[in-house]
Amino acid sequence: MTPLSDLSAGFPRTPLGHWPTPLEPCHRLREELGGPLIWLKRDDCSGLALGGNKTRKLEFLLGEAREREATGVVTFGALQSNHARQTAAACARIGLPCDLVLTNAVDRATTHYRTSGNRMLDDVLGATVHEVADDEAAIMCAAELADADPDRYFIDPGGSNAVGALGYVAAAAELVGQLQAEGVEPAEVVVASSTGGTAAGLALGLHHGGCDASVRAVAVYADHDHTRGAIERLTIATSELLGVDPPPADGVVVVDRSLGEGYGIETAASHAVIGTLARTEGVLLDPVYTAKAFADLVDSLPGLDPAGDVVFVHTGGQPGLFAYVDSFAAGPAG
Ligand SMILES: Cc1ncc(COP(=O)(O)O)c(C=O)c1O
Repeated sequence: MTPLSDLSAGFPRTPLGHWPTPLEPCHRLREELGGPLIWLKRDDCSGLALGGNKTRKLEFLLGEAREREATGVVTFGALQSNHARQTAAACARIGLPCDLVLTNAVDRATTHYRTSGNRMLDDVLGATVHEVADDEAAIMCAAELADADPDRYFIDPGGSNAVGALGYVAAAAELVGQLQAEGVEPAEVVVASSTGGTAAGLALGLHHGGCDASVRAVAVYADHDHTRGAIERLTIATSELLGVDPPPADGVVVVDRSLGEGYGIETAASHAVIGTLARTEGVLLDPVYTAKAFADLVDSLPGLDPAGDVVFVHTGGQPGLFAYVDSFAAGPAG
């Protein structure tokens, strides 16, 4: 691997996170499961209000917002959106009003789901929250906010556009440097994928950083075709923004076998790996994103070189554990 410089350098950026996030080997997990050594890229430790992958995207998105002299920020998500919570925190940090338009996209009517976890933190962080019934109502709410103040900066769901994906182009450059320092050449970089910006930025940054590992994007929001389409569109848009070639199509492998019955609905395997990783490594996964992606990784271990290495990008989301507290009432997972 011969690293190139970070392609995202030179774009407007607002410092929000603690970089680099650690890259940690899971030796005790390997003793329990066998197979390759899994390295955790700890983006859950990004440093902004309980951390997560959105910190990296928001550095570039809010960089652009500031450059445009925006008077406030509006974004969208599910009731337990990690992106919404991180946006609220980022806005608090730089002193911009934040409006969150949240849709109840998950069929989970528990009090904890509706009031705890990320949803509670949105209030603590001072955001103005608009809870709406569905996507149509969200669009109407956004239009009203835009009419009331046209200088607000609107962020796409999940922070996923070409500017947001720059955060993971930068993350890939950081990761390539850490892998070189450790002398590790992973076969795969595994990550949970929803709106696709994280996987797209990683694939682009790894490819141009001289790292041959493919990105395994584990779909947790929608099926394979939808997720693959989102990642492809974002990869092309981000490549155009940077003025570089997109990575080869086989640089990203999309899988959806962990999706189960859908977004935000746990599976037996996702519930179990939360317990496994917690008890072997003291690391917490979240029920909606990282547990499903990690379940896919655990399932694929027998097909991987047991002498090799794999990277799992821990994208955060742990406040979601408190929204799903009812699922743990029967005892520890796993
Ligand atoms: C914890 C966590 N992991 C992964 C993702 C997926 O990232 P992306 O939307 O860029 O695919 C999200 C997005 O909301 C998230 O909150």
